[in-house]
Parts: sequence; structure tokens; C-alpha cells
Amino acid sequence: MFAKEVYIARRSTLLQKMAQTAPQGQRGIALFVGNAEAAAQYRDNAYKFRQDSSWLYYFGIDEPFMAAVIDLDSGDECIFADDVELGDIIWMGPQPSVASKAALAGVGRTAPYNDVRPVVEAALTAGRKVHFLPPSRYFNTMKLSSLAGVATEDVTKVAPMDKDGGRHASEELVKAVISMRLVKEPCEIEQLDDAGALGQLMHTVARNNVKPGVLEQEIVGIMEGVTLSKGWGVSFPTILSQHGETLHNHLHDKVIEPGKLLVIDAGAENDMHYASDFTRTLPTGGRFTSRQRDIYQIVCDCNELAFSLTRPGTAYRDVHIASSKLMLEGLRSLDIVRGSIDDMVEEGIAGLFQPHGLGHNMGLDVHDMEDLGENLVGYDPDQKRSSQLGLGSLRMARRLVPGNVITDEPGIYFIPALISQWKAEGRDKGFVNFSKLESYFDFGGIRLEDDVLVTEDGARRTGPNRLPIQPSDVEDAMS
Ligand code: GLY
Ligand code: MN
Repeated sequence: MFAKEVYIARRSTLLQKMAQTAPQGQRGIALFVGNAEAAAQYRDNAYKFRQDSSWLYYFGIDEPFMAAVIDLDSGDECIFADDVELGDIIWMGPQPSVASKAALAGVGRTAPYNDVRPVVEAALTAGRKVHFLPPSRYFNTMKLSSLAGVATEDVTKVAPMDKDGGRHASEELVKAVISMRLVKEPCEIEQLDDAGALGQLMHTVARNNVKPGVLEQEIVGIMEGVTLSKGWGVSFPTILSQHGETLHNHLHDKVIEPGKLLVIDAGAENDMHYASDFTRTLPTGGRFTSRQRDIYQIVCDCNELAFSLTRPGTAYRDVHIASSKLMLEGLRSLDIVRGSIDDMVEEGIAGLFQPHGLGHNMGLDVHDMEDLGENLVGYDPDQKRSSQLGLGSLRMARRLVPGNVITDEPGIYFIPALISQWKAEGRDKGFVNFSKLESYFDFGGIRLEDDVLVTEDGARRTGPNRLPIQPSDVEDAMS
């Protein structure tokens, strides 16, 4: 955990932000529910425990079955959790008391876990607002539904509390939490650099094991072992495939063949649960063919361009579009597309090659806070999300501010099914040279991803040792 002052200051800021949502006496309570153990097959064989990230942010205690209430009118706060009994000690060993754990978060009052129910009921009976965040786990959905008397399908809906009698997740609380977690504190940036170092080590070890004849799964295992031995584990399921045209390919059953491209998109979660997320695309035999190198260089240039444009005040949506333009220029120079770049961008042609966004927020979650709502997290109130393929998947469009941590992950993919559909339906509006493009059906895909911190006057990449990215540096590293 961080020092208790960190959590005290965060809750104090949250209280101030929530004070702006209603006059004193009408603010209600904020109810937080931490994650529970989840049975893998039976109760005593649970999945590895992962705490809820907003709980970690405000309370830091990395243990299951905890809840907390902050009274937004009086400022009182209480953590609800049970002390272990002798039966638990026999299996788990002695455990610190709930009161001593709460003290580490700077919370002075604790009560048994089930005592949260009468506290919430009393608030509801008194006609007070019960603010909570939309849960991502089923246990929390059920728990919040039962505590707050809200239908399970409404627990994940986010709306202002004066709508529908407040019987849903609180938009006010979501917005307050997002505004805080979007801007990383210095202590968080240290953790993100640490997770970056671990992710970079994972990729380095993976790269050292890429050679024809090795099973993809073997590389995955070696790579994940690095973060399991030095951190918490992976920050998301590893993507490692010679079929990189499938954006999230979790099938690792192929043998590495010479002459292919291997997409490795993987990251670490460190012991404080901060994430990293890097992608590199490697030539399986150690050297790019000239056809691979041509496409690779375009993606590499887009990655560098995006980084160079990343600074406070710039909307990341515009960085996505600038990267798309450069990509289309590169593809035009290879006669894969033809025509005006601006017209192609207008028509969304880049989405045929990069059907995803340039990046997302990153922090305690690898896609930070997407459980709170992608648009609330990634879009300023005056920004409207596009419906175009590619741009429509952009998860971080906001005007950047210092302390934002985002990914920079352009890609080019040759997806035969998508290309064939666009051709059959004329969706390319005449911009695509299909006879050239179809010669890339066996190419696969390329993605190149770094993690970037927005600073006061620009940006820097997180993690101490940027992974080789220029094609000749990749080849050198592989030799
Ligand atoms: N690296 C996985 C993702 O960004 O979705
Ligand atoms: Mn990513």
C-alpha cells in the first residue's frame, strides 16, 4: 500500500468533488464494495484474487469481502469487514485485524461486513442518495442490487442521481472518480514505471526465445513466468500469434515458422496492481522481408508520430487521425490505396487497415476505468464518439492533460474476411486497389505499442528501457 496519507488525501478530494453535486444535507452516502473471492470450481478453490481498482485507489486494502461507506454530508467513513476466526487461522495463518488494516488506509472506524446493510437501509429510509460505482463483477452486482434495492440490470446503468429516484449507479460519483484517476500522482507514476520495467523484461525474454521450431505457447509461458516471478502477473491475457491480423488472438497453438511476423501484445501488473501494455511485432526468422519491412516501417512511423504529437492540450482523437493520415500515405506509396488522404480519412478508409483506436488510458487497469463507462472515461463532454470502423473504437479521445497515461498503439492488419466484405459491398468508395491488397492476404498484421505519460510540456514513455522498435534495431536485438 501507499502511505495512509495518500488514501486520506484522495478521499478528502473525493468528498470535495461530491460536495459540488448537492448542498450539504442533500449529498447522501457513497457506498464502495470491494471484490469477493470467485470460485473456480468450488468455493475453496478460488481464482487468484484481484481487488477492485477503485477500491484500491481509495482504500488500498488488497483483500476480499470488504465494503465502505463515506457519508458525503458529515465526512464520516467506515470500513465493513470481518475479522478472521480460529477456523480461518488454521487454514490461512494469523491475520491482522480489520481495524489495523483500515488504519493503513487512514480509516478510523470499522464494523462487521454485514453491518453495511443497516447503514445503507437507514440512508434509503431517510430518503438520502446512495451513490455507488457500476460494478464489473457479478458478486458486486448482486451485492449492490441487494444493498441498495436496485434491480440487477440497473446496477450497471450510470445516470444522474436525480433521475429515476437514483435507482442506478451514480454519474456524479463516476465523474468524480474518473476526474481523479485520469491524472496520475507521482507515486502512481513510479508504479507505472515499475510495471513498465517488468513488461519490458517480459518482452525481452520473449524475444530471446523466438525462433523457428518453438511453440508459441512455450514463449507465452516463459514470458508470463517473468511477471509471475517478479510481480502480480499479466495485466491482461497475453496476445502472441503469427496470425496478428486477428486483433486479440489468444490461441497460441502454432509452431514458430520462418518468414512470418509474430505479434506479441503483453503487459505486466506489478504488486501494487499498476499495469503496463506493450506490443512488438517480430520477424520470426530474425530478419524482415522487404515486403514486411515496408509495412512495418509505416506502423513504426505512426507510433513515433503519435508520440511526438502527444502533449497537454492536444486531443488524442486528433493524434489518432494524424496517425491514420500517415498510415494512408504509406499505403498509398505502396499503391494499396489511391486518392486524396483527407477524403480517405473522411470516409473512414483507415479503419479497413486499423479497425481499432490509437490507444486507451492505463493505470490500475490496463484499459483504465472502462468499467465506469468507456465514453465517460475517454471522451470530453463536447466530444462525440464516431461510428466509423477504427475511429469508433478509439477509447481515449480526450484533450490531454499532464498526468494522463495512455497507450500509443497503431497497427496495420490484412484481414481477408474484412477486405472481401468491403470489396463486395463497395465500402472502399473506390479508394482501395484490391488487386494489390489481395496479394497481402497471407501477410498477417503488425501492431507497435508503447505506454506514454503526458508531462507538463510534452510526453515521455513509461518503463526504463524502451523495447527496440526501428526495424534494424529489432533485427540487431534478435541476432
Ligand atoms: N493490449 C490489449 C489492448 O489494448 O486491448
Ligand atoms: Mn493496449
